[in-house]
Amino acid sequence: MRLLTSAAAIAAALTLPVAAHAADAPVQVTLDASKPGAVIDRHVFGQFAEHLGSGIYGGIWVGKESAIPNTRGIRNDVVGALKALKVPNVRWPGGCFADQYNWRRGVGPERKPIGAGEPNTFGTDEFMDFAQQIGTEAYISVNLGSSTAQDASEWLEYMTASTDHALGAERAKNGHPEPYKVAILGLGNESWDCGGAMSADFYVNEMKRFSHFLHSYNPAQPTMKRVAVGPSGGAENYTEEVMKAWKGRSWSWDIDALSLHFYATGGWPPHMADTGFDEKDYAVLLKDPTAMDALIKAQSAIMDKYDPEKKVALAVDEWGAWLAPTPGSNPGALAQQNSQRDAVLTALSLNVFARHADRVRMANIAQMINVLQAMILTDKDKMVLTPTYHVFHMYVPFQDATLIPLTFDAGTYTTNGVTLPRVDAVAARDKAGKVWIAVTNIDAKSPTTFSVSLAGVKAAKASGQTLSAPKVSSINTFDAPNTVAPKALSAKVAGGKLTITVAPASVTVLGLE
Ligand code: AHR
Repeated sequence: MRLLTSAAAIAAALTLPVAAHAADAPVQVTLDASKPGAVIDRHVFGQFAEHLGSGIYGGIWVGKESAIPNTRGIRNDVVGALKALKVPNVRWPGGCFADQYNWRRGVGPERKPIGAGEPNTFGTDEFMDFAQQIGTEAYISVNLGSSTAQDASEWLEYMTASTDHALGAERAKNGHPEPYKVAILGLGNESWDCGGAMSADFYVNEMKRFSHFLHSYNPAQPTMKRVAVGPSGGAENYTEEVMKAWKGRSWSWDIDALSLHFYATGGWPPHMADTGFDEKDYAVLLKDPTAMDALIKAQSAIMDKYDPEKKVALAVDEWGAWLAPTPGSNPGALAQQNSQRDAVLTALSLNVFARHADRVRMANIAQMINVLQAMILTDKDKMVLTPTYHVFHMYVPFQDATLIPLTFDAGTYTTNGVTLPRVDAVAARDKAGKVWIAVTNIDAKSPTTFSVSLAGVKAAKASGQTLSAPKVSSINTFDAPNTVAPKALSAKVAGGKLTITVAPASVTVLGLE
């Protein structure tokens, strides 16, 4: 295990020369709006909230009697912040937790705790209330690992049936007469490991039964997108077996997506420090999101053999940085700070998903609050927005926008023997017709000038926001919440070219006007 929390490592943390001049020639980018690509599904900006650490208890749920301002037990500050992200879906209750979840212990007046850490006071009705408060869709991961299809089917009856069904009536008795909408259904989680250590062919048989017997009882919302368990990183057996079975499917079952989990760790097990790291560890971690492109290509190629029309989506429903736990925290809580490095990692990952928009139609960052690469950190009544939150906010215009392919030479940025592309960029046209461009300067030392030739777009200027920081390791804390915060930025378009200079290790999103 390699922890960079020593005084020497902290002293080595890099101060970025934000005011320096661009060291290299401008990056020439060509944007051709006459050649639109696929739609970037808004579900690519999904989130993941698991019963783990203080992701739910403390992060979302404080209880109705709490002095922390709340609505029916759910913190108002967190809801307000999440609403601004237009979160398309939240995956719940896990993760590994889902495959041991007993939904019955979390409904009704008599909650049955599983020790102090899981009082079950936040159950199905509270999750659905949370989803409605932030304006998102429910992605429910059912327990395929340690429970039965009958039990999961009854959970769906509780959530989606009208009151003339026994479990719909039970929901009404618990104060919720209207059926809920379950938009997405996860058929197990990591069934090759924590979800039951199943061989791929065994999982396929289980998944087919669950797919067949689980349905929505809500006539107003008859279909749910079904997500089957897919590969662990680069492994191929689950992808092969699930897709082969899907190709030969009968009327009785179907899936809409195959799940892929991929964490940026810089090497397993997670060991990289969340704060006080240096430029080398900035670059080492950013190797992983750039490697995700190759991973998606490889998995898509297998899917293409069985599904050349790309009917089955690849759902990257766990992704993000997984670092060493914050020193002094409970290692099982998976608490970690969030720095400008996470902001750059977020932009690079979202860009990869956007470029694979034809196949990657869903993704869920792990996780929403207080766990792993979080949007939000809380401590009792305090809340702080992370650099990752800001990038998700800046990328909202890309939800359901149509990709506009860009051509550019990304160049290289080498530090301490680690080589990465120097820059990245994506563009898209939103539903109102406005064109957006996102540029990332990966280079941690030098500003970069982008010169974007705009073919097929009439624009006089571009305006938006840029996110940079004093150091790659800069973080937001409860005492200093705005160390990493977006700043307004605009640039003129002259002679059909947008020219903009951005800071080292920065993320910028601009709309053309
Ligand atoms: O996100 C934390 C854990 O990582 C999830 O519970 C599991 O699915 C994955 O291994």
